[in-house]
Amino acid sequence: MTDHHHSHDDHHHNHGVTEPDDSAMAALLDLDAEVLHTFLSDVTSDLARLSPDRPPHRILDLGSGTGAGTFALLQRFADAEVIAVDRSPELMDHLRDKARERGVEHRVRTVQADLDGAWPALDTVDLVWASASVHHLADPDRGLREIFRSLRPGGLLAVIEIAGFPRFLPDDVGRGRPGLEARCHAAMAEARAEHLPHLGSDWGPRISRAGFTIEAERPFSIDLRPPLPEATGRYAQATLRRARSHLAGALSADDLATLDHLIDNDAPDGVLRRDDLHVRVERTLWAARRP
Ligand SMILES: C[S@@+](CC[C@H](N)C(=O)[O-])C[C@H]1O[C@@H](n2cnc3c(N)ncnc32)[C@H](O)[C@@H]1O
Repeated sequence: MTDHHHSHDDHHHNHGVTEPDDSAMAALLDLDAEVLHTFLSDVTSDLARLSPDRPPHRILDLGSGTGAGTFALLQRFADAEVIAVDRSPELMDHLRDKARERGVEHRVRTVQADLDGAWPALDTVDLVWASASVHHLADPDRGLREIFRSLRPGGLLAVIEIAGFPRFLPDDVGRGRPGLEARCHAAMAEARAEHLPHLGSDWGPRISRAGFTIEAERPFSIDLRPPLPEATGRYAQATLRRARSHLAGALSADDLATLDHLIDNDAPDGVLRRDDLHVRVERTLWAARRP
């Protein structure tokens, strides 16, 4: 995995431009999809239940990243095609490579576009999927209105949003001062409040205001306990590395040293080797219909 441990704090300031560490981001998104695959399967199964008579054929995955949603949807809806839209050319390349590896390239189209700019001209679709992406938009309410126009009447929108990053560590980690991960999360939340003001928003009313009828709001509390698959350690490492790159001025020197140790490839008690990781993730699905 790419080591992006060096500081690149300036990616807070390049909104609308490809992030400098997209290869690390690609690895993180792939690990998220791998470790949380039952969650993705549960969400697509909810969407199948909401479209019993007419399974979606044309699907739009907005802010697709490396295609966690795209591939879960292609698997769930065997006749479907997905248009994956993202502003990052590197993540789009990665998604296309994965589509080829999985033999589904004929069912995927990628469109590179910045959704803060002119909305891409696309044919009307049956389902729009936006996972952990709406909160990135400068004006999510405008985004939701554009999504409304992208859907056929009767079509479904699935917004999946996160409240924060996943947690992995036992509470007693933190060199004489337990609670390191909680302190990381508090510092991250502060940084995000400034740079991602829409994260953690109550999306239901905003989705309704764009013209949709809410069909379901379902919180998922994902709680994966040991023994966990080997990818879990890499997922924890990638998540904490990403967090580390934002936390330089926000944690004590002791906490930063502990964090550096935890994310070190070779540390015997680093997250790659620990057997006490416990994955906790909170996500919410809002499913809404264009009347
Ligand atoms: C947290 S990732 C989620 C990726 C994917 N949906 C998933 O669930 O794994 C957010 C994605 O939104 C994309 N994104 C952020 N702002 C965007 C914008 N203005 N236009 C298009 N894509 C954007 C990022 O490049 C990134 O791939």
